[in-house]
Amino acid sequence: MQMVSTLGIGTNVMATIEHSLVSNRLVIRSMRLEDVNSKLIGWLNSPTINRYLEVRRATVTEHSQKEFVKQKIESSSEYYFLVMDSRHNGIGTASLSWDGENRKAAIGLMIGDAEYWNKGLGSEIIEVLCSFAFDSLGVRKVVAGILEPNKASLRAFMKAGFSMEAQLKEEAVLEDGEIVDSYRVCKFS
Ligand SMILES: CC(C)(COP(=O)(O)OP(=O)(O)OC[C@H]1O[C@@H](n2cnc3c(N)ncnc32)[C@H](O)[C@@H]1OP(=O)(O)O)[C@@H](O)C(=O)NCCC(=O)NCCS
Repeated sequence: MQMVSTLGIGTNVMATIEHSLVSNRLVIRSMRLEDVNSKLIGWLNSPTINRYLEVRRATVTEHSQKEFVKQKIESSSEYYFLVMDSRHNGIGTASLSWDGENRKAAIGLMIGDAEYWNKGLGSEIIEVLCSFAFDSLGVRKVVAGILEPNKASLRAFMKAGFSMEAQLKEEAVLEDGEIVDSYRVCKFS
């Protein structure tokens, strides 16, 4: 993975660092306010895409998403990325929440364009986020939460070298009322 970090001045005149993580097929760059467009809002509100994500409960608007991105830009421990293919088309998002004191990080991802599913890109995103966490942030343990029916996500994490840490019984209620377990998976540096 190749990483470039640039220091910029954010809209509220505070210094912000923009990260750009590059792998074989992807460019994963800190989300900018101008990345919030109808395509991104459509993914976040799509019941097919958000079925197993926290955001399934919300109705995301351009305003709410810009506020969310602004918060992430200003945070020193919450990273939110736009995932792009090699031609710089946005295909999804990724997030990393850094707990510096315990040298841990929690990650999440969403490939919003379903045309890109099942091509190994989920695993590639996870591997890039882990390299960033381990090599640049000094993290020793990366964790993720996955709802039990989300078989593709579990498989993508396992392919990226994660192992099962716990199964939490009846952790979540899906939009159709189904009550499901969740898995906590982890990977050490
Ligand atoms: C989950 C997600 C990130 C996976 O991304 P992806 O690019 O499809 O992942 P990969 O291609 O690396 O791996 C998916 C694997 O799951 C397998 N798979 C897909 N659907 C499956 C199913 N219903 N049952 C079992 N395995 C399944 C694929 O065959 C593939 O395994 P393989 O490479 O051994 O053939 C993507 O589907 C996504 O963004 N979904 C919407 C948001 C989401 O759920 N995010 C994860 C939150 S924890």
